[in-house]
Amino acid sequence: MTDREVKAAEGPLLESKLREERRFEPPADFRERAWVKDRTPWEEAERDFEGFWAKHAEAEVHWFKTWDRVLEWNPPWAKWFVGGETNASYNCVDRHALGSRRTKTAILWEGEPGDRRALTYEDLHREVQKFANVLKGLGVRKGDRVAIYMGMVPELVIAMLAAARIGATHTVVFGGFSSQALRDRIQDAQAKVLITQDGAWRRGQVVPLKQWADEALAEAPSVEKVVVLRRVGDAAGAAMVPGRDVWWHEAMAGAAADCPAEPLDSEHPLFILYTSGTTGKPKGVLHTTGGYLVGTTLTAKWVFDLKDDDVYFCAADIGWITGHSYIVYGPLSNGATVVIYEGAPDWPDKDRIWAIVEKYRATIFYTSPTFLRTAMRWGPEYPKRHDLSSLRLLGTVGEPINPEAWMWYHEHIGGGRCPIVDTWWQTETGMILIAPLPGVQTTKPGSATVPLPGIKADVVDEAGNPVPPNVGGYLVIERPWPAMFRTLWGDPDRYVKAYWSQYPGRYLTGDGARKDEDGYFWITGRVDDVVNVAGHRLSNIELESTLVAHPAVAEAAVIGRSDPIKGQALSAFVVLRAGVEPSDALKEELRQWVGEKIGPIAKPSDVFFAADLPKTRSAKIMRRLLRDIAEGRALGDTTTLTDPAVVEELRQRYIAEG
Ligand code: WT7
Repeated sequence: MTDREVKAAEGPLLESKLREERRFEPPADFRERAWVKDRTPWEEAERDFEGFWAKHAEAEVHWFKTWDRVLEWNPPWAKWFVGGETNASYNCVDRHALGSRRTKTAILWEGEPGDRRALTYEDLHREVQKFANVLKGLGVRKGDRVAIYMGMVPELVIAMLAAARIGATHTVVFGGFSSQALRDRIQDAQAKVLITQDGAWRRGQVVPLKQWADEALAEAPSVEKVVVLRRVGDAAGAAMVPGRDVWWHEAMAGAAADCPAEPLDSEHPLFILYTSGTTGKPKGVLHTTGGYLVGTTLTAKWVFDLKDDDVYFCAADIGWITGHSYIVYGPLSNGATVVIYEGAPDWPDKDRIWAIVEKYRATIFYTSPTFLRTAMRWGPEYPKRHDLSSLRLLGTVGEPINPEAWMWYHEHIGGGRCPIVDTWWQTETGMILIAPLPGVQTTKPGSATVPLPGIKADVVDEAGNPVPPNVGGYLVIERPWPAMFRTLWGDPDRYVKAYWSQYPGRYLTGDGARKDEDGYFWITGRVDDVVNVAGHRLSNIELESTLVAHPAVAEAAVIGRSDPIKGQALSAFVVLRAGVEPSDALKEELRQWVGEKIGPIAKPSDVFFAADLPKTRSAKIMRRLLRDIAEGRALGDTTTLTDPAVVEELRQRYIAEG
């Protein structure tokens, strides 16, 4: 082979030089009590794939009518549990409220100002039925779309489950999105009703959701009625539009108590969730009822080892898929007790999340690597203020976790005793696909380990051939899974083109990965997150993890900026840990550090100390904006950022420092 052919065969991410040697076995007592203790489910699924899913669909989900066929697969079009009838709201509420969990707490809610509410399954049953009747009264019918633009309040969950109950398709728009983003999503979904609130609390300030909703609605004529929850009161300055807007509490006061859950076809659309593509307009990812419910119920149970006495706390927002699948549908379908927190993690102080863990005696905690790196930067004194001994399992999702962040999580949050489940999945996959089952899998910091039972994934080259161990390539999923998205709303061509055309019959995830000699998957990030320095392709995440492994560094983003000589030169944006002083000597030390760990080629050309990094709402570093800064371009679209001020400040300082 010529050099060039060797390179091609090595795939898109050939310079994978980091090796993680640390191993963590499931603690013996954890394994003893876990739902899954050995490899039986993997064996069962490989022996009889459809039989495996049928068995768990039967066991974990209530059906009004059993399916005729488990799977109908006409690539890339899938139907699961064909001919079956079920209802997500019934599964998450009624079967618990009418069964042994009637007085069990479903939701433990804490508002940012410190107010608290607890809802039992019986309470949830009552509220969901009433709100379903409110929706009906506003003219919502099976198949209509209902947009929801709220903060993290119990009514958000109630609204979702009420829509699902009558067969209306919900589309939740994250409460931090602008009126423009809301308008685009309502227009695309052609929603008939919008549910919102006067305002939401964030860092002691009011986020004026109703005002933003009004701006959006000026250009979204499909919406006929608006329901407004009073959350903050007069401070929000919400004005009601007569004939269009109704207060939540007033509508509920007159609503009838009973609203039986509608038996719905397995493939009935449950929700649309918009996710930003790298380019172009947001993609409306469509999930349907039966398969989604089976997939999220089983994975919530197995990956989080959910038991009846657990208190489950996921710090994500319900406005993105993590919240849909692993705050609402998966945990509630299992009859779990779920902690929901309304506000910012650093309000009134940087220990808020840990205070909540302590107060509610949370046993399972699920968050993102970004939050963990932020917590690392704040320092271990914040978790140390609290008794975290109730925790027994930790999880992460959203991006590759740097091994050092994993270790910090393990030590400072998990007290060295809690298994960590690093869960790989996407809005499109609906459910976790690659993650350890905590009673079975030996974990390695930074690896999501292996595909779950029933899931077949691989790493392939451009031509679709599997690559050898430790060689980078494209992560693909080899066969359908129940919670897979069914299409992109209103854009089936894009569904086919973006995900299923590169390797027909196989799902293209858009992520780069490698498998090690034990078959463990190491996700290297989106394939577009690759830098090419003098012909060497390096993964951003590996460079960043190397920087984060240095004791002075809390967070890092590495980008390639165009360079006339090398093609791309590496710029590192580094956030230092609390108490570390920036200096030119430290910059040089960090360059040397990366050079030693990965190789001289990987040494950043420049290191820039930043106060913070620009991140999307779903907690991903927006490297493309850092590239804009480093290449002196005008900033691209910043509407999906958590805090657009961060990037502007960064740009000013970058220019100032030359
Ligand atoms: C992308 C999906 C699924 C909910 C979170 C985000 C990245 C997600 C991991 C992980 C490495 C991860 C991937 C994926 N990602 N989890 N455990 N390890 N990367 O959902 O916004 O649809 O983003 O997040 O790049 O493709 P999303």
